[in-house]
Amino acid sequence: MELKVESKQKVEGEIRVPGDKSISHRSLILSSIAEGESKIEGLLEAEDCLSTMGIMRDLGIEIKKEKPGSYRVQGKGLNGLEEADNVLDCGNSGTSMRLLAGLLASQDFYSVLTGDHSLRKRPMQRIIGPLSRMGAQIWSRRDGLAPLSIRGQKLSGMEYKLPVASAQLKSSILLAALKTEEETVIIEPAVSRDHTERMLIGAGIDLEIQADRITLKKAKERKLKAFNIKVPGDISSAAFFITAALIAEEGELLIKNVGLNHTRSGFLEVVEAMGGRIELLNQKDQGGEPTADILVKASDLKGTEVGGEIIPRLIDEIPIISVLAAFAEGETVIKDAEELRVKETDRIAAVVKEFKKLGIEIEEHEDGMVIAGSAEVEGGISVKSYHDHRIAMSLAVLGLKSQQGITIEGSEIINTSFPGFKGLLEKI
Ligand code: S3P
Repeated sequence: MELKVESKQKVEGEIRVPGDKSISHRSLILSSIAEGESKIEGLLEAEDCLSTMGIMRDLGIEIKKEKPGSYRVQGKGLNGLEEADNVLDCGNSGTSMRLLAGLLASQDFYSVLTGDHSLRKRPMQRIIGPLSRMGAQIWSRRDGLAPLSIRGQKLSGMEYKLPVASAQLKSSILLAALKTEEETVIIEPAVSRDHTERMLIGAGIDLEIQADRITLKKAKERKLKAFNIKVPGDISSAAFFITAALIAEEGELLIKNVGLNHTRSGFLEVVEAMGGRIELLNQKDQGGEPTADILVKASDLKGTEVGGEIIPRLIDEIPIISVLAAFAEGETVIKDAEELRVKETDRIAAVVKEFKKLGIEIEEHEDGMVIAGSAEVEGGISVKSYHDHRIAMSLAVLGLKSQQGITIEGSEIINTSFPGFKGLLEKI
């Protein structure tokens, strides 16, 4: 499918972005293993989360839709999942595969996890290694690639230092550890998104967080309390619209009810460093996650340097930060971001290639890129999504600032995380 984006001077209005993807996945998984009925509102109904939902249903969990975004999940406890009678399909979703591999490694049955062409090329050894140390039996293709087949086992707790700051890896280990009796300690090289920890603590699990150490306390048996959750808007989705408003010639955009968890809000810190005019209004706590409405005004931006500990707190926003950088005055350096090479596509290579096609001055580095800034984009050409939702949406936002518009090929992939994207773009 193609998406044609026209040039636009003024961006304005009031919008809501869909529910947070990370919290939506975790709501479905944790409610399924909780005791009794949980209620989820504002769930992201995008392909990635629907993959997780489908798998929980395949594992014998009843999940009923009440209205758009609202679901009731009949949790069966940590020992209530049933063996699925077929292969479990994670689609494009790395979060589904990595979190569920951890969960299924300790279930007393056999499971096979697969995914689409992109997911079957992403690194799974990073979870197979530590889960195997806990006693898990997981087979993969050569080099740790999916499909994964998992013979569930009784596992043991462990102390583990993560080699990469990855919330998916951390969460996979935590889910595997829930059915062990021993303590499990995870040490992070840098802070990554902490939704799993917050939700486990909210469900009554004895988890202690001290700086870079997460300790799941020893327990004979663990039980998760059922919960009600209202999923806040996804800051990673809001980032596309924040950028559209910042790079416009004029206008003001209000984005309501966005999740602002510190482990996710690095993007806003970069926007401030670049001189972007944003205000946080109506700040609240929504079920253990901070939220606010974000008011964004068209701004004159300047280049910046993005690297170090902030990277895991804005990892999914780097493609759209590259768009901000293209239109800022002065150079922007993005470094320490080699993880981008193993996302839905190699996001460094994809951004560099498509920016060059559009005449934007950009230099590729192994761990990032350098973008010259003050770009004049003529447009009038087609660019590619690389089967990556965030590349497709970043290029769409870039198109607003081109003189003749741009066409994004393979834009259907946007549905993996943001089904209403095109409608909202038209609205603003
Ligand atoms: C996610 C964690 C991040 C992020 C992904 C969602 C999660 O991946 O890129 O989109 O929900 O845990 P890593 O933790 O592997 O960096």
